[in-house]
Amino acid sequence: MPNNQANDHFVWEQSGRATFDGHDLAELADTYPTPFYLISQKQVRDNYRRLRQAFSSVEGISTYYSTKSNFESIVLKTLAEEGCGAEISGALDMELAKRAGMDPGNVVFDGPCKPAADIEAAIDWGIHLIDIESMTEAHMVNEAAKKAGRVVNVGMRIDPLLSKPYYDKVVSTYKKKFGFPFDEAAEAGVAINKMENLNLVSIMAHIGSQIFTPSRYLTTMDRMFELIAKLKPHGIEIDEINMGGGYPAQSMRNLRLSRRFRFARVLEKMGRIEVKANSIDDFGKAITGRYHELKRSSGFAPKLSLEPGRCLVANAQLVVGRVKVLKNEWLFTDISMNDVPENLFFSEWRLVMPGKRPDSPTKIYNVSGPTLATQDVLYFQREVQDAEEGAPLALLDAGAYSIARANQFTRPRSAVYAILESGEVKMVRRPETVDDVLETQIWS
Ligand SMILES: Cc1ncc(COP(=O)(O)O)c(C=O)c1O
Repeated sequence: MPNNQANDHFVWEQSGRATFDGHDLAELADTYPTPFYLISQKQVRDNYRRLRQAFSSVEGISTYYSTKSNFESIVLKTLAEEGCGAEISGALDMELAKRAGMDPGNVVFDGPCKPAADIEAAIDWGIHLIDIESMTEAHMVNEAAKKAGRVVNVGMRIDPLLSKPYYDKVVSTYKKKFGFPFDEAAEAGVAINKMENLNLVSIMAHIGSQIFTPSRYLTTMDRMFELIAKLKPHGIEIDEINMGGGYPAQSMRNLRLSRRFRFARVLEKMGRIEVKANSIDDFGKAITGRYHELKRSSGFAPKLSLEPGRCLVANAQLVVGRVKVLKNEWLFTDISMNDVPENLFFSEWRLVMPGKRPDSPTKIYNVSGPTLATQDVLYFQREVQDAEEGAPLALLDAGAYSIARANQFTRPRSAVYAILESGEVKMVRRPETVDDVLETQIWS
């Protein structure tokens, strides 16, 4: 199984030896207290370079890394070294981008409900632009710009209102939550640009995460060019279109059906549970291809930008733990949902048993975290190789929205180690203590 991504730095040999950048995970589990996160610096750099290569037919693309997907120091420093910018969503992200040495001219500020103080701080730092999501926010940014005595560049986020057949009618979606609905966007754009201290220069859309195929990006780009044409007669020159993030972690297992449905087991037995996500090369080719077409046919030439998160970091970080208790069909591990809180329903992390041969006999378990919480389940009905109490276990593809969202439900957060490009394994975030968790409580 595991190496379905060309540049994946994880290897599970037939002998059972499982390595990340050449480091034996079973040995690391003996060296450091589990659970811990492990980041590969090389993988982060490779993923970034691969993304840039995939979009290289367009010159001058800006990449604003979505800081919230993983803001560990080693990740941000490595991306900053590559010249990558940041998509920040508040003061915390902004401080991180500063610490990483990112250029404010390569930073954009996104979010549906930005605090006034953060808007002022971002203007003060001189970031590239703020992506406005509502008229209320447009007034706030205008006021902050006025206070700073400046005219600032802004973008507007749009919701392209794409439909998935049947889906929208059956499930409540997040439609119209973010940005301006496409059918209201031209009017809003004109109103924003009329504000004394705002200069509308960019259109942004972010259409979801772990998106398997490029087609919805292409429709989104069509709508963006339509909007550019509608704004032009009002004297508005849009010089950037920002396609947001959402490009998939190709190495994750994408399921047709959540494992909570027993029918998923049937599909799995038939070898039909998995859907392959397109590679970043496929996304790059399709998106830049449409961009060149639209540029030619419309005569507009905005620059192109991206806000990737997951595809840069997911397979660059794993979590190492141990099997703690086997009971009936339950396997308890010390890795908890606290460590990997994101629940994607239709995609799952790769699960590996370092030291066990990948083709050794399997048994079906519900793989559970250790906390006293019903929801602390990592997998339902998952085949596990040769599980025994005390054996090491690793969750791959856990680099996005894991440590960044980790919480302290009944226990402190886990340590983060990095495999540096030199080969050295270095702690980059110490494990929290009980005192750390309680430090902000006031008892008197
Ligand atoms: C506005 C925006 N841009 C970019 C991203 C990054 O998305 P992904 O990690 O799926 O690439 C997100 C993630 O939620 C986002 O909200």
